[in-house]
Amino acid sequence: MSRSSKSHDGPANPSRRGLLKAGIAGAGLVAGAGLARAAGGDPANLPPNVADWSRYLGPGVDAAPYGMPSEHEAQVVRRSVEWLTASRESSINFTPLHELDGIITPNGLCFERHHGGVAEMNPTDYRLMINGLVDKPLIFTLDDLKRFPRVNRLYFLECAANSGMEWRGAQLNGCQFTHGMVHCVMYTGVPLKYLLEEAGLKTNAKWIMPEGGDAAGMNRSVPIEKALDDCLVAFKMNGEALRPEQGYPARLVVPGWEGNMWVKWLRRIEVGDMPWHAREETSKYTDLLEGGKARRFTWVMDAKSVITSPSPQAPILHAKGATVLTGLAWSGNGRITRVDVTLDGGENWHEARIDGPSLPKALHRFYFEFDWDGSELLLQSRAHDETGYVQPTKDALRAVRGTNSIYHNNGIQTWYVKADGGVENVEIS
Ligand code: MTE
Ligand code: CO
Repeated sequence: MSRSSKSHDGPANPSRRGLLKAGIAGAGLVAGAGLARAAGGDPANLPPNVADWSRYLGPGVDAAPYGMPSEHEAQVVRRSVEWLTASRESSINFTPLHELDGIITPNGLCFERHHGGVAEMNPTDYRLMINGLVDKPLIFTLDDLKRFPRVNRLYFLECAANSGMEWRGAQLNGCQFTHGMVHCVMYTGVPLKYLLEEAGLKTNAKWIMPEGGDAAGMNRSVPIEKALDDCLVAFKMNGEALRPEQGYPARLVVPGWEGNMWVKWLRRIEVGDMPWHAREETSKYTDLLEGGKARRFTWVMDAKSVITSPSPQAPILHAKGATVLTGLAWSGNGRITRVDVTLDGGENWHEARIDGPSLPKALHRFYFEFDWDGSELLLQSRAHDETGYVQPTKDALRAVRGTNSIYHNNGIQTWYVKADGGVENVEIS
């Protein structure tokens, strides 16, 4: 779709047709795969000509009261995998990691995971109840929550099932699908500690059970130490109200721990002396090992990383020469201290450059600039966190965990770059 059809109705440029053809030929100069974006250009806009957009007044203010991305970025969207789930209401989609940079996920691109669809909550009728082993049960309105001292914290949220499809071998072609169940935003919210203190914890208070107001009534058990440490009841993300998909008007933030515990549309927190759903905790969110045993209470998301470009959806578009490799690393145990990358499947490792803020339990952005000689590459990244933990290979992970689980796969990802710049998801051992 051309911009001119939308924003101005000037006379058709008589030379446009011919030039458009040249434009397509011109795009051919960009070697490699994935040329979709290079197509659709118009050499009539190139120097020394006066570009289209310089010849007329553009839309004025208020043309978009809530701004949207350029129409040329229409490919930057969340995507789902049709066959993965039976219904749309209990499903997932994925953050387009290969299109993003820096460490913040734009609100509209945060992956969604719902068990009962998006609850359509009216903020006026919003209530958060705290009951159970407390001195005085309380019910807060949204305005009540906003009268507590609030904090701003940047955290990643990763679903425990992220990369779950890859346990048995390379499956999905794109980091959006292999690693896109993660996002990272700046939350504004009230430390849960303040709310629990307001209610007054009984001495035998050991667990909380946050519960969602969605049709799924999702709930989990969280140990009281975590609840009093860094959990938040958040009502803003990246400065604006939570998106409906992310739990509007309030959600629980459980930094560094698996996304399932971050209850959205938070309506109640019951305080107890033991975990609820002991049965569910051992059947649902556990990691099934070989021989039928299961890992339990595996809440922390261990250090992980992925190269977001080049990657299957972000092939190399030039023939050779200066190339920027970039990716993301994160750890539920704190800061990322180092990321190594290899271009040859692990024979030589190079320290990548981390750029941007390095905050605990947040995404970290890394870069590695190199001269591509046009030959095939096997790209991998390996994250180190401040506890000294080093991201394992998938084989090392399988040796300990087997291949029965779909949760907590933080193994090293491999991308195979072909001579034409195309990239595929592979595994090497
Ligand atoms: N909270 C409620 N109320 N209902 C849900 O279905 N899904 C959980 C969690 N909180 C869920 C929920 C799961 S499994 C994950 S991974 C995260 O929310 C996803 O958060 P997001 O949709 O903001 O990315
Ligand atoms: Co999840």
